[in-house]
Amino acid sequence: MDKSLVIIKPDAVQRGLTGTIINRLESQGLKLVALKMPHLDKDSAQRLYAIHKDKSFFKSLVDYISCAPIIAMVFEGKRAVELIRETMGHTDPAKAETGTIRGDFGLDIEHNTIHGSDSVETAEEEIKLFFSENEIFNY
Ligand code: RTP
Ligand code: MG
Repeated sequence: MDKSLVIIKPDAVQRGLTGTIINRLESQGLKLVALKMPHLDKDSAQRLYAIHKDKSFFKSLVDYISCAPIIAMVFEGKRAVELIRETMGHTDPAKAETGTIRGDFGLDIEHNTIHGSDSVETAEEEIKLFFSENEIFNY
């Protein structure tokens, strides 16, 4: 079983898509094992996207992800990281297939509705940014 960090981004929380997105992931057989609703400050946003710190879009990305509350979750399942990436679709909603979360709800490459860890190793690091061990349930 893998675990992955999923974030419902501000554009989706603001449009009332939280339940729909959780349903899409649970419908894949993924198990929700942790959830919280933080409003990230700039430092936390920079830590989350540190890998992109030299990119042209870094400041805009940090401003965006910290502009409103997000939903942070841990999902567990067989091939969870890969399965979530498939369910999310392409980073750019214009290139994401219909039926994927970004294809159906993403607005543009920045306001693309959902974040999912891109590897099992990244997931372990990202989960630690949001959750302590006793906040991740085994049930
Ligand atoms: P994420 O990390 O949010 O799950 O997205 P991803 O793996 O599909 O894409 P990544 O390359 O890691 O990019 C992280 C986020 O940065 C924003 N972005 N903006 N303006 C741009 O060209 C651009 N490129 C990426 C997106 O919000 C993307 O999800
Ligand atoms: Mg990424």
